[in-house]
Amino acid sequence: MSITIAPSILSANFARLEEDIKKVEKAGADILHIDIMDGHFVPNLTIGPGVVEALRKVSSMAFDVHLMIENPEKFVEAFAQAGADILTVHIEATRHVHRLIQQIKSLGVKVGVALNPATPLETLTYILPELDMVLLMTVNPGFGGQKFIPGVLPKLVALSGIIKEINPQCKIEVDGGINLDTVRLVSKAGAKILVAGAAVFTAPDPAKAMNDLLQAALEEQ
Ligand code: DX5
Ligand code: ZN
Repeated sequence: MSITIAPSILSANFARLEEDIKKVEKAGADILHIDIMDGHFVPNLTIGPGVVEALRKVSSMAFDVHLMIENPEKFVEAFAQAGADILTVHIEATRHVHRLIQQIKSLGVKVGVALNPATPLETLTYILPELDMVLLMTVNPGFGGQKFIPGVLPKLVALSGIIKEINPQCKIEVDGGINLDTVRLVSKAGAKILVAGAAVFTAPDPAKAMNDLLQAALEEQ
């Protein structure tokens, strides 16, 4: 199964978003990771559907929209209409994750479920067959540029094994602290979509940074 680097716009220049995302799109990125934060589920605020809609007009990458928000059921429709291709919700942010998964599917977009570092894989037992993607957070969500939490690696290895058995089409995404060192660890452990924010957009040449990460990831396959 192929491996992809998904640049996260959280560390891009918000005054020049179009320019920054074109740098990675031209360099071959096919998934753009967009972080939505509400100041409640995580201690930070970012953007809403209006910005996603504006970006949709200037990019043809798949939009991987990571909802770090409470009451995600209230907002998934707006983000689907704004142009999301994958909507990922945190299992910790909803009481009715099964219902929410069905709601997202009915909007005609792919569905992912995200787990914080301390959330066990067992929470996925009865929903895994329904999912297009599982996102394992490798930092506590809320900020770019944090340090990778190595304790998530055994969880990633275990999830890779479970997914092969239960739902081999489902992709594993990792998010947080991915750089030239940690990208090798997560690639080896079975992650297929590797989110990278600071490592790409704070580099002098984001296109090169992204391709260096991809190369390192491929070397571990
Ligand atoms: C963190 C976000 C991440 C963030 C990752 O809560 O979900 O997507 O942009 O940034 P880096 O790669 O800088 O850790
Ligand atoms: Zn994210």
